[in-house]
Amino acid sequence: MSKRVVTLAHYYTQPEIQQMADKVGDSLELSLFARESKADIIVFAGVRFMAETAKILNPQAEVILPDAGSTCSLVTQTDVEALRQWRESHPDHVHVSYINSSAAHKALSDWIVTSRNVDDIIAHLYEQGKKVIFSPDRNMGGYLNYQYGYDMPLWSAVCEVHDKFNEAALNEALEAVNSKAYLIAHPESPLPVLKRAQYVGSTSGMLNWIKAYDGAVSDVIFVATEDGILYNMRLARPELDIRQAPIYAGCQCNSCPYMKMNTIEAVKRAQQGHGTRIDYLSQAEMDAARLPIERMLDFSQ
Ligand code: 13P
Ligand code: SF4
Repeated sequence: MSKRVVTLAHYYTQPEIQQMADKVGDSLELSLFARESKADIIVFAGVRFMAETAKILNPQAEVILPDAGSTCSLVTQTDVEALRQWRESHPDHVHVSYINSSAAHKALSDWIVTSRNVDDIIAHLYEQGKKVIFSPDRNMGGYLNYQYGYDMPLWSAVCEVHDKFNEAALNEALEAVNSKAYLIAHPESPLPVLKRAQYVGSTSGMLNWIKAYDGAVSDVIFVATEDGILYNMRLARPELDIRQAPIYAGCQCNSCPYMKMNTIEAVKRAQQGHGTRIDYLSQAEMDAARLPIERMLDFSQ
């Protein structure tokens, strides 16, 4: 009997890859889909931590990452042994980790969050009187501390793509359209950019914001996130002038090199069973990483 193959694609992959996929989504939607999937093979057109999350949630499935190099700077900037020591130096804190982390990192966490549920989960923990440490994204953690007055100690890694968004270039671009343009931003962006944004939210959150926008103030909307999502935004609202926020004057060109390693050829090969199999995680590591992920999924459903 032939194997059932399902292809998942993150919004940051190129449009042709999204068109080849059975499910397109943000990291939370894709994790939920992977958990429920009955497929024998899950091709994950995203980055490695996403494919690892799919494997942890659905260990029976064979999970294939089209290109072995599809990593994420939040993962590569985090030394797990140093993280373990940092966590141990805060024994009375709950460790909340962003899903953009390795399986070993997740195994050292009490909760996993995505950009969609991070506000609610951390608010929930503070309501219970808990003290929280947050890793690995210092921009996201810094924004939460600023926005809600928390005092979470932060790990210090950044998304190399979102960290490039630049306040000065942004101000120039906004002024060029009489400052009437809107700005929406992903919380991996630097704090000065986030402070200027009318809306800060996850990839899906921004897409939903665009779908619901009434156009009252301006047709020009700058988006501070990876360029892949602009395809979905323009499909949803072709009449709006949706532009990527600049990373320096005149340059609207910010793209995740790891997401773009998912070429058409690589995804087709993965659908034939060739690529990087996520088969290297130990049972103990998967079990330890699953707990904080399931805690998040139960909270978000
Ligand atoms: P989402 O959780 O919004 O899908 O973001 C994932 C990501 O890698 C953002 O850079
Ligand atoms: Fe990682 Fe940034 Fe790429 Fe998202 S956009 S996968 S956070 S490097």
